[in-house]
Amino acid sequence: MALEEGARSCLLRFRHRLEQDIKPSYLMDHMISDGVLTVDEEERISNKPTRKDQAVALLELLLRKDNRGYISFYNALVKETYGDLANLLHDDLPQTLPGAYKSSSDGCTSYVQTVLSEGGVPQRPVVFVSRPEFVNCVREKLYRLQKEPGWVTVFGMAGSGKSVLAAEAVRHHGLIEECFPGGIHWLSIGQLDKPDLMVKIQSLCFRLEQSLDSPSLHRPPNSLDEAKERLRYLTLRRYPRSLLILDDIWDSTVLKAFDIHCRILLTTRNRSLTDSVSGAKYEVEVESGLDEKKGLEILALYTNTKLHGLPEEARSIVKECKGSPLVVSLIGALLKEKPNRWRYYLNQLQQKQFKRIRKSSSYDYDALDQAMDASIEVLPDEHRELYKDLSVLEKDIKVPAKVLSVLWDLEPEHVEDILEEFVNKSLLFVDSNNKPHLYYLHDLQLDFLSPLKMCLFGKGRLLGLWYCCL
Ligand SMILES: Nc1ncnc2c1ncn2[C@@H]1O[C@H](COP(=O)(O)OP(=O)(O)OP(=O)(O)O)[C@@H](O)[C@H]1O
Ligand SMILES: [Mg+2]
Repeated sequence: MALEEGARSCLLRFRHRLEQDIKPSYLMDHMISDGVLTVDEEERISNKPTRKDQAVALLELLLRKDNRGYISFYNALVKETYGDLANLLHDDLPQTLPGAYKSSSDGCTSYVQTVLSEGGVPQRPVVFVSRPEFVNCVREKLYRLQKEPGWVTVFGMAGSGKSVLAAEAVRHHGLIEECFPGGIHWLSIGQLDKPDLMVKIQSLCFRLEQSLDSPSLHRPPNSLDEAKERLRYLTLRRYPRSLLILDDIWDSTVLKAFDIHCRILLTTRNRSLTDSVSGAKYEVEVESGLDEKKGLEILALYTNTKLHGLPEEARSIVKECKGSPLVVSLIGALLKEKPNRWRYYLNQLQQKQFKRIRKSSSYDYDALDQAMDASIEVLPDEHRELYKDLSVLEKDIKVPAKVLSVLWDLEPEHVEDILEEFVNKSLLFVDSNNKPHLYYLHDLQLDFLSPLKMCLFGKGRLLGLWYCCL
C-alpha cells in the first residue's frame, strides 16, 4: 500500500528542514531493524558524498515507501532524540486502528506492534537479518491453527535463532487478524521446577485478567492444577482464538500444564516434547544455516561498516561461525566495542576458544559454550559421557548406529534409542534418507566437543571401527 496522502504531503512540507538537520546513518540502522530499508538501499544512500546528499536521498526514498516507512522514520527520529523533527511528523502519522492498513511486504503495522507489545512479545534484536524461508514456514503452520487448537513446535540446536524466529513469525497483520484476534501472549519458560512454573502461569493469568474490561476478583491459584484450570477458563472463555507462545521449553511435564485445548507456538531444543500432549501438532526445524551474505550483513550492521568495507577477516569469521546466528552476533557485538580485534576473534574461533567469545545481551547465555553446555547438562549422567565420546566423529563423516555400538560396546537397539534421544534434543543430526540411518554432528557441535577429543580415538581408530563394521 502506498504512503497515505497526509503523510506524504507532511514529508514534502518539511522536507527541507529534515534535509538540513538529520544524520541519515543514525536513522537508517533503526529502519533496517524495522525491515523497511534494505542493506543495499542503505549502502546506496551512504555512498553519497555529503551528509546533506544522504539526507536528500533518504527523503526521496521515503516518499516512495509505504506507511511503515514513515512510521519507522518517525520512530527513528524519536529514538535518536530529534524530538522537534518527530513532532513535525506526528500529526500525520498513518492511522493505527486494526485493519486501517496492511503493509505490502511483511504486514508489520502499528496494530501489530500494539498487539505484540501488550502480549509481551520481544522486539527484534538490534541487529536483525530476515530469514524468510523459516518465517514463512512457521506462519504457514500457524495458519493451520485457525480452525482448531493445537501445537506448533519450533525446534533446533542452541542459538539457531528459534526465539527470534517465533517473535518474527507473529509480526504479521494478516495472521493476527485472521487467526489470533484474541491476541498473542508470550511466556518465557526456560528450565523450571514446579513451584516456579506455577508462579509463571499465575502471572500469565494475572496479565490476562488485568486486560479484561471487568477483571475477576479470584484469589491467586495456589496449586499447579488450579493455575492450569484458571488458564483453561481464560483461554477458552475470555481469550478464544488467541495464541500462547511458550519460549524455551525443556521439560514435557511443563508442557502438560498447558495441555488445555488452546493454540500454542513453542520453541525448544527438544523435538519430541509434544509427544506427551494431545491435539493437532506441527513442527518446524530451524537449521543453524545462515548463509555467508547474511553473516556478513550481521557483522556489517554491528560494526557500522558497509558490506564492501568489511576487512578481509570478515569472510573467514563468518565461515568459522558455521552458520550460527548466535555466534556471528556475539562476534559482531564484541567487534562493535573493539573494532581492532577482527584478527584476534578469528584466531579464537579457529582455536575453538569459545570461552573467550562472550558477551552479555538479552540472550539467556553469555557465550556459545554455556548455551551448548545447557543441552548436555540435562542428559542423564551415563548418556552425557556417551555424548562426549562423539568427539571422535570427524567433520563431514556420517556414521551408522553400528559404528557407535562398537565404540560404546552396547547392543545396537540400545544405541538406536540413545541416538534417538540425542537427535530429539538437537544434539545430533540424522540423515534418514539413507538405510541404515546415518548420524552426524553439526560443525559447531564438533568444534565444541573437540577439546574433549582423546588421542586414543583419532581418525585412524574411528575409521578402523567404521571399516570393521561394514
Ligand atoms: N534473524 C536474526 N538476525 C540477527 N541475529 C539473530 C537472528 N536470529 C538470532 N540472532 C542472534 O542469535 C541469538 C540467539 O538467537 P535465539 O535466542 O533466537 O536462539 P535460540 O535458538 O532461541 O537459542 P536457545 O536454544 O538457547 O533458546 C540472538 O540473541 C541474536 O543475537
Ligand atoms: Mg530461545
